[in-house]
Amino acid sequence: MKPLDRKSHILVLTGAGISAESGIRTFRDVNGLWEDHRVEDVATPEGFVRDPQLVWSFYKQRFQQTLTTAPNPGHLALKKLEDALGDRFWLVTQNVDGLHEDAGNKNLIEMHGSLHRCFCTGCGAIYQTSAIDLDSPLPFCSACEMLLRPDIVWFGEIPYQLGRIEQLLKKSQLLLIVGTSGTVYPAAGFVMTARYFGAKTVAVNLDPPHNSSFIDEFHQGKAGDILPDLVDRWLTYLK
Ligand code: OAD
Repeated sequence: MKPLDRKSHILVLTGAGISAESGIRTFRDVNGLWEDHRVEDVATPEGFVRDPQLVWSFYKQRFQQTLTTAPNPGHLALKKLEDALGDRFWLVTQNVDGLHEDAGNKNLIEMHGSLHRCFCTGCGAIYQTSAIDLDSPLPFCSACEMLLRPDIVWFGEIPYQLGRIEQLLKKSQLLLIVGTSGTVYPAAGFVMTARYFGAKTVAVNLDPPHNSSFIDEFHQGKAGDILPDLVDRWLTYLK
């Protein structure tokens, strides 16, 4: 394992659990989003072709929820870590809620897209969700009049910036994983890649994740309770 010191690079991977304390539902917990909705209907390209109105109503609701939510102590602890480490810190999130950006993180990769953006299925033009008319049943591109879709990476699609993430996994001495069940690939496999390249792997989660056999140090509990202290402790020897 690579030693941890003032030159160490840290990569953080977050999932829905880090936003739970901000009031955003996770996917697979009791009362999770996938209890009320079929993944095939609202999170696949085929579902969008079948019923774009249903898909848009699902993402509109989720977008509107983000307008009234705020980062919690878990998000803020990761902002503190980035402030202290600068470019030795990178954050990859599977979340699409924008809360890491709201917390102020800059070295951020939103690998599953963002509720705050959508794009044209015809010409690819990108729109801010806040700038489109959410009252109309379906939004269309003002340039080419084709249907817009949420900028969300659906099942069967390739997440953003995988090449960059692989580079970060190779050069990091520490991978911190927060609030993810470890079931959705490729993100669930990052822990194995990081281990392969010699990083220490640490997880903070309410329940042991599915890939926990690859985790060196596990902190069980809420991200907002655990991360502030963990970050302060790490900063005594990483900063
Ligand atoms: P899941 O809903 O699968 O898992 C959330 C994890 O967070 C669970 O393991 C919980 O135990 C944990 N958790 C809940 N509250 C927590 C808290 N306060 N502090 C720490 N941990 C907590 O969500 P993800 O793993 O993020 O993809 O799901 C991965 C992907 O599956 C999502 O990005 C989404 C989904 O389908 C797409 O939509 C493409």
